[in-house]
Amino acid sequence: MLFQVVPFDAAQHDRSTFNSGSPALDTYLRRQLSQDIKRRVATCFVALTDDGRIAGYYTLAATSVLLDLLPEQVARKLPRYPSVPAILMGRLAVDQTFKGQKLGGALLADALARSANAEIAAYALIVDAKDEDAASFYGHHGFLALPTSSLRLFLPLASIRPLVE
Ligand SMILES: CC(C)(COP(=O)(O)OP(=O)(O)OC[C@H]1O[C@@H](n2cnc3c(N)ncnc32)[C@H](O)[C@@H]1OP(=O)(O)O)[C@@H](O)C(=O)NCCC(=O)NCCS
Repeated sequence: MLFQVVPFDAAQHDRSTFNSGSPALDTYLRRQLSQDIKRRVATCFVALTDDGRIAGYYTLAATSVLLDLLPEQVARKLPRYPSVPAILMGRLAVDQTFKGQKLGGALLADALARSANAEIAAYALIVDAKDEDAASFYGHHGFLALPTSSLRLFLPLASIRPLVE
């Protein structure tokens, strides 16, 4: 199936039937997201089916990572600033109807491409996995765990830049 990935629009996109199997991610989409967008603490992109149904979504926000929290071999190659800028993908979810069709991977690739092509510099895309299973999904796509938490992972954007230009 083909999906279109577009910025979330509360007036156009129906969230009422979205069911990822994770109540926290579904409730966030229904109840919290519009407020977060209004307050400029997150942006959201949705994958739509032909008939306008939300099949998946992810959120992005600016963040930073303390250099001391990165693996030593990575931090060594960065300037000696206390922290480096990054983009946080706080949430990613696919509706259960569409799971296993590579949509999660496609949304991740979309987030990486937007982050790597953004006009404002960011060293890495950071993801917060909700559990070890989600962390393994990110690991499968090349993300590395931060030494402090197996549920917070990162991927340097310079490494994928040639792929998305
Ligand atoms: C995790 C999630 C986003 C994956 O989406 P999906 O559309 O079902 O996954 P895809 O079909 O895109 O899978 C793409 C690849 O990841 C692999 N994969 C999927 N889930 C995986 C997991 N838990 N661990 C390791 N690999 C995984 C697939 O095997 C596939 O590999 P391939 O491309 O080499 O064949 C989805 O299952 C989901 O929404 N889960 C509930 C919410 C969640 O866990 N969100 C994660 C962040 S908090």
